Amino acid sequence: MTLTSTIRNANALSGLLLVLFLVVHLGGLTSVLGAPASFEAYASGLHHNLWLRPLELGLGLTSFLHISLSLQKALRNRQAGNTADLVSRRGEPLAAWASRSKTIAGVITLGFIGLHLQQLRFPRPLDGHEREALVHVLQQPFSLAMYCLGALAIGLHLVHGAEAAHRSLGWLDPSNKSSIRFGGRMLAALVSGGFLLISLGLALDVGA
Ligand code: HEM
Repeated sequence: MTLTSTIRNANALSGLLLVLFLVVHLGGLTSVLGAPASFEAYASGLHHNLWLRPLELGLGLTSFLHISLSLQKALRNRQAGNTADLVSRRGEPLAAWASRSKTIAGVITLGFIGLHLQQLRFPRPLDGHEREALVHVLQQPFSLAMYCLGALAIGLHLVHGAEAAHRSLGWLDPSNKSSIRFGGRMLAALVSGGFLLISLGLALDVGA
């Protein structure tokens, strides 16, 4: 296995792990609008779980790996004079757009995460006050705009990432190409739409 394919595989696997985190994170947030008491119980249960620290550490390391491997891959492609991603794929405007904007989508996501962690993780809201803290954050117009932008960037990044990860791992072939592409777009719409709806719902304090 060459260094380039090792980088490609590790990057794809780290991306898939981050998608798993996003799905779990969104799942944990679903009760925040309709069932505030069970959301608070879920949040404080999570905070007191012994596994949380190692999981947070793993998430941090996976994110670091994903970002640094993506940068290395982009650098190697540039050095090799590979401009394939910049050429529009006829008949696939969404895929071509998602591929072209992967860097900007990644940068917006990173900026959003920086703000998000500073607002809700460092420090973390007190037990029983998680929803109150979220409503406070999302009722600030700048934060709401950043959360919406972050959710859209994540969706765009997933449209590109789902297909790219399967290609890198060698799991994409002509027979499963369209179902992988369809599945990737469904996942992107679900994750992006879910975070958008929850952000808007919290800004309007729905279900208080
Ligand atoms: C509706 C949008 C979102 C809401 C309301 C939300 C809410 C939260 C809350 C409440 C926490 C703190 C959890 C705790 O108390 O420990 C958190 C942590 C976190 N969120 Fe979000 N989140 C949203 C979207 C996102 C998105 C789109 C991403 C990724 C791109 C993300 C990444 C993270 C990360 C990395 C953490 C830290 C996890 C940890 O170390 O415990 N969040 N989020």
